[in-house]
Amino acid sequence: MNEKQRLESTQINPADKKSEKDFSKYFQAVYMPPSLKDAKKRGKEEVTYHKDFGISEEFKEMGKGRKFYIRTYGCQMNEHDTEVMAGIFMALGYEPTNGVEDADVILLNTCAIRENAENKVFGELGHLKALKKERPDLLLGVCGCMSQEESVVNRILQKHSFVDMIFGTHNIHRLPHILKEAYLSKEMVVEVWSKEGDVIENLPRVRNGKIKAWVNIMYGCDKFCTYCIVPYTRGKERSRRPEEIIQEVRHLAAEGYKEITLLGQNVNAYGKDFEDISYGLGDLMDEIYKIDIPRVRFMTSHPRDFDERLIEVLAKGGNLLDHIHLPVQSGSSEILKIMARKYSREHYVELVNKIKEAIPTASLTTDIIVGFPNETEEQFEETLSLYREIEFDSAYTFIYSPREGTPAAKMQDNVPLEVKKQRLQRLNDLVKEIAVKKMKEYEGQIVEVLVEGESKNNPEILAGYTSKSKLVNFKGPKSSVGKLVKVKVSKANTWSLNGEIIEEAVGVK
Ligand code: SAH
Ligand code: SF4
Ligand code: F3S
Repeated sequence: MNEKQRLESTQINPADKKSEKDFSKYFQAVYMPPSLKDAKKRGKEEVTYHKDFGISEEFKEMGKGRKFYIRTYGCQMNEHDTEVMAGIFMALGYEPTNGVEDADVILLNTCAIRENAENKVFGELGHLKALKKERPDLLLGVCGCMSQEESVVNRILQKHSFVDMIFGTHNIHRLPHILKEAYLSKEMVVEVWSKEGDVIENLPRVRNGKIKAWVNIMYGCDKFCTYCIVPYTRGKERSRRPEEIIQEVRHLAAEGYKEITLLGQNVNAYGKDFEDISYGLGDLMDEIYKIDIPRVRFMTSHPRDFDERLIEVLAKGGNLLDHIHLPVQSGSSEILKIMARKYSREHYVELVNKIKEAIPTASLTTDIIVGFPNETEEQFEETLSLYREIEFDSAYTFIYSPREGTPAAKMQDNVPLEVKKQRLQRLNDLVKEIAVKKMKEYEGQIVEVLVEGESKNNPEILAGYTSKSKLVNFKGPKSSVGKLVKVKVSKANTWSLNGEIIEEAVGVK
């Protein structure tokens, strides 16, 4: 039996006294727990490309008369995985529902990036336990990045034995099999492949909306920043073939989508794993530039692999938007070094200058971690000074959260939580100060907005985003939803703009 077959046959019932007694033996023999140690050894294991995903006849009636509900906790990639799982459910005949109450299957698509993301999931499991008691036929599954963690799987097996299925990020395409096992056995089905990951094409998807769409261009991450769990939960870097991506983008354009976001944990490493062609993100963007889709974004960029070719292509403009999310993490070269980001403050500033020179209208946003182990006051102040120097449009800011199995989690840390909280507050004050200043510059200006729908708080008002991802609320006709329109900005708030439509432009390119 190879590893795959062994994993496929896995069923564990922690409630079963016998298996509980022999638990460790059983665990070792039948079920290979996801292992952070194994993940760290990037193997020579071949990445397999599967082009032929299909739902076999035996599963086709499975969802008849049943409803599914998926709750998503993570990043865009996680959300896009939810779209794929929804596509598989629909292909199996299930119907979607908007709440847990009338769902027959509930999946929690989890995120492991910080401790509070994990706590939310365990909290939700607590709530769902009661529902499961009321309706024992309900199937409850945990998937996503937390499922790739050994400690999480163990905790669910031992403390949340009412969960019916746990499956990992490499097992999404196996959902029909996993569901079938779960229906047949009513024992906990655990299928988590601790491997490098494959690339699977032709997966069904139910996209959330008709205006904007996500397109995966690569999976995994090989950067191993010392604080980060993603390389362990998502496997090694592997790129989709350009022709598959281009075909998907063409389809989206033909279906009338107005904006796509190319997704990857580190999109600048796109193509580095191809052995037969020399082809990078710049080349891909150059092809997509020619496709008749009005807006193209990409995320997330890693400063290290951001090359000249990409800058040159982005400078062409057109549908390639001038907003770049470029996580810096810290303004201190010493901290960056311990984070293993593999660039210095100077290198980052140089890169930003190059980008601004080639694309003068470019707006930059970033991610920052404060309170990394032993971060000194001076090092933190370097982050503040870098922020001031670059004048980012905005930033996602986080307090460092130790992740089990990562090198940083083993570091001694002399920074008290109270100090970390204060640093976050000080940074957030600066982020706000600069955001206010930059937003003010829009007053009186005309911006192009992709209209997404009614504003959250007021159905009389429409809302959409500019090319630089600024939220704009404005008065205009409902018929402009899904279109690009010109809006005159009357007032700038901290995180959004107010305005009035002046022209229903269809200006593409
Ligand atoms: N691949 C992207 C980011 C992925 S995670 C990149 O490298 O830029 C999104 C953000 O979460 C990171 O940029 C980082 O700022 C934050 N993050 C990741 N691990 C973290 C941790 N252990 N504690 C706090 N923040 C973390
Ligand atoms: Fe995590 Fe670093 Fe990879 Fe981003 S590049 S996902 S921060 S390891
Ligand atoms: Fe979270 Fe996994 Fe994304 S850890 S941030 S859902 S890749």
